[in-house]
Amino acid sequence: MKIFLDTANIEEIKKGVDYGVVNGVTTNPSLVSKENREFLPLIKEITSILPGPISVEVTATDAGGMVEEAKKYAEIADNVVIKVPINLQGLKVIKQLYTLGIKTNCTLIFSSSQALLAAKAGATYVSPFVGRIDDISGNGMDLVGDIIQIFDNYAIETEIIVASIRHPLHFVEAALMGADIATIPFSTLAKLLNHPLTDIGMERFLKDWQKVKK
Ligand code: E4P
Repeated sequence: MKIFLDTANIEEIKKGVDYGVVNGVTTNPSLVSKENREFLPLIKEITSILPGPISVEVTATDAGGMVEEAKKYAEIADNVVIKVPINLQGLKVIKQLYTLGIKTNCTLIFSSSQALLAAKAGATYVSPFVGRIDDISGNGMDLVGDIIQIFDNYAIETEIIVASIRHPLHFVEAALMGADIATIPFSTLAKLLNHPLTDIGMERFLKDWQKVKK
């Protein structure tokens, strides 16, 4: 399973890349707004930190406007992927960008039918938002399982990005199900690595090592 960082924060991305396990980045307007920086230079800087896919979201609400934004963002760097919302206008945009050879990440996926339509339109990735489904007492990971099964049924090549991950268990469940990618906040990446028994074990080994005759 590939790991993407779900952030627009340069320091977090640099720290994540330092872990040696980060394959890409997803951003969205909410994440970008937290950075208080000019949009295009921020995205340019992110694309220069790692060669993997960097999702950048369009904000126009009509297909024509979204395609214009997408073309502009795709010129920033070869690794830009255009994030497009799932709705009728979004489907049209995904199809047009597919014919132009521009990669897309279809976002705000909350049902398997939305994921299938996005894939049929030519999306490179679909992003089911598991945490937001859990937030309203649903089961986000059930949706991921359904999308995996449907894509398997028809050998669909669109990759599934498990998004809106809230905790390490979402990450582990995504891997057990065979999802292609999990996009996680930097805080979750740190949680995946740490374990108190590892720390205690290290402490004990180092203490005992002092007693060894050298
Ligand atoms: C990723 O593509 C999404 O934008 C992100 O995971 C949404 O996460 P949230 O539900 O925590 O805002």
